Amino acid sequence: MLIRTPDNGYIHPTSLDITPQSAYLGRRDWLKGLAAGSAGLAMATWAQRQAWAQTARPGVLAPLSGSASNVPGAQVMDKATAYKDATSYNNFYEFGTDKADPARYAHTLKTQPWTVEIEGLVKKPGRYALEDLMKWAAMEERIYRLRCVEGWSMVIPWVGYSLADLIKRVEPQPGAKFVEFVSLADEKTMPGVRGGSLDWPYVEGLRMDEAMHPLTLLAFGMYGEVMPKQNGAPVRLVVPWKYGFKSAKSLVKIRFVDKQPTSSWTKAAQQEYGFYSNVNPLVDHPRWSQATERRIGEDGLLAKKRKTLMFNGYEPQVGQLYAGMDLKRNF
Ligand code: MTE
Repeated sequence: MLIRTPDNGYIHPTSLDITPQSAYLGRRDWLKGLAAGSAGLAMATWAQRQAWAQTARPGVLAPLSGSASNVPGAQVMDKATAYKDATSYNNFYEFGTDKADPARYAHTLKTQPWTVEIEGLVKKPGRYALEDLMKWAAMEERIYRLRCVEGWSMVIPWVGYSLADLIKRVEPQPGAKFVEFVSLADEKTMPGVRGGSLDWPYVEGLRMDEAMHPLTLLAFGMYGEVMPKQNGAPVRLVVPWKYGFKSAKSLVKIRFVDKQPTSSWTKAAQQEYGFYSNVNPLVDHPRWSQATERRIGEDGLLAKKRKTLMFNGYEPQVGQLYAGMDLKRNF
């Protein structure tokens, strides 16, 4: 079955082409359940999406009524990356280092049951079921640019809520200055973990004020669907003003700590990947320039590249977090 919609953005049910219908219906049920189960939930229904798809002008993303975020900067008007590209060109080293590996192998990831352990300097530590976490705040849709350190970018409509909502709920202690994020590392289901491309598990970290910034998203889905496995199901981080590797996938631990965490990429190459990793066209990677980028799917390989924006275009929202800091030194 193929539902035809105008090819004007991300409302293109390409998942139908690559997903067995039973699984696809499962996703729709998930969405419906989510919409029914969580008070104030503002995620678009399939019907709303279809209605939007009929009326939107090609290439322009109008926020869906009732689902758009009130967080400033959360709805960029760039054309969204095609679902097919966003789910077939991925970095998820637990499944291999080739961009096609995650889509090829991530089907082995088991996302049910799933728990996230909240630990460290926090008043309400515990192992929380994903279903509970999903109800801790109203989900909304955020259309974010994601700029990878390798020089490409995408625009993805995520579904989730501000990480700040989770943090407030678990009540960090005054000594908590940083938040550490740990991804699943399961040798049985993740072929990349059996190899040595990184020191597993995948670890990332944010300063507390970065983690509390309303743009920092705890994402459970994208394109109005449950998160595809290759994109970090069932729950991941999205920090849109930082290089993509800060946005850790398939989270199993969120730890509140007093010292700056060491991320997997910093461990792997300290001179190349710093703790902050804010998108910054003025600070080159030691081996390549960061001044321009290629938007996946939009610009052909030979097409002119786009200029990379300071803080990936989110400077009005996040610039203040780094006031007075030497961004060359704190790369
Ligand atoms: N998280 C884990 N656990 N493992 C990874 O290899 N890759 C990162 C980040 N999160 C990665 C990860 C990198 S380098 C990028 S660019 C983004 O995920 C890519 O996210 P996407 O595949 O959804 O576009």
